[in-house]
Amino acid sequence: EGGSSGEKAELSSKLPDKIRNAGVIKVGTDAAYKPMEFKEGADIVGLDPDLAKAMGEKLGVRFEFSNGTFDGLITSMQTGRFDMIMSSMTDTKDRQEGLDDKGKKAGKGVDFVDYLSAGSSILVKKGNPDKIESVDQMCGKKVATQRGTTSHEILKTQTKKCVEDGEKKIGIEAYNTDDEARVRLKAGGVVADISDFPVAANAAKSGSDFEVVGDQMQSAPYGMAVAKDNKKLRDALRAAMDAIIEDGSYKKALEKWGVE
Ligand code: ARG
Repeated sequence: EGGSSGEKAELSSKLPDKIRNAGVIKVGTDAAYKPMEFKEGADIVGLDPDLAKAMGEKLGVRFEFSNGTFDGLITSMQTGRFDMIMSSMTDTKDRQEGLDDKGKKAGKGVDFVDYLSAGSSILVKKGNPDKIESVDQMCGKKVATQRGTTSHEILKTQTKKCVEDGEKKIGIEAYNTDDEARVRLKAGGVVADISDFPVAANAAKSGSDFEVVGDQMQSAPYGMAVAKDNKKLRDALRAAMDAIIEDGSYKKALEKWGVE
């Protein structure tokens, strides 16, 4: 593991000098998204940190994760708080172009290095008491989700459809973390929580509170995000990700965390 010293030297030479000299890549994440990234004591662990660790062995640097609010990660990166984002972040055109949810230019945009694929899923209480199978059955009901996510967008689009169809709006409750949305579901304050499938599936697997219903919606790639003026880091990350896919450590990490 870690690759030959020749490979390491080659990959490390791709990094921006500043990062190679520091020996650290600072990563922003929202560590309330088990099994992708979550807190275990003071540590941030999960599939994303494991993939980063494996890439770090290839690049000869350490990835240092720090916790932030998901909805603010891109802005925080643009102000220099970290070098990249790895947070199960879906590679969307809006984020690439820095558009807000109304399609207006709101930021500089980011580049993505894609590495996984997932869609959104509906999590309900075990036994599915409200008999929900899809988002179009949510008109007039309260639903929780994490603010600023693709799941939040799905709900905003659906609630417009509800109104167009002469039905009541969805009572969208947007929380800073998906953990909070799930607490709200458990307490019975909402009929469902929408999050990414790996996270919903993990919540359904652990304990007997929840189940996943319906199909995955809008499957799309996850990407590591970097600032648009950081092409060197982007290309180094791409090369390191390809190297861990190639040597099997990528697959091992997915299996360890039960993500397909
Ligand atoms: N994939 C979704 C998105 O990009 C949700 C990601 C949430 N990530 C997290 N660590 N909470 O919008």
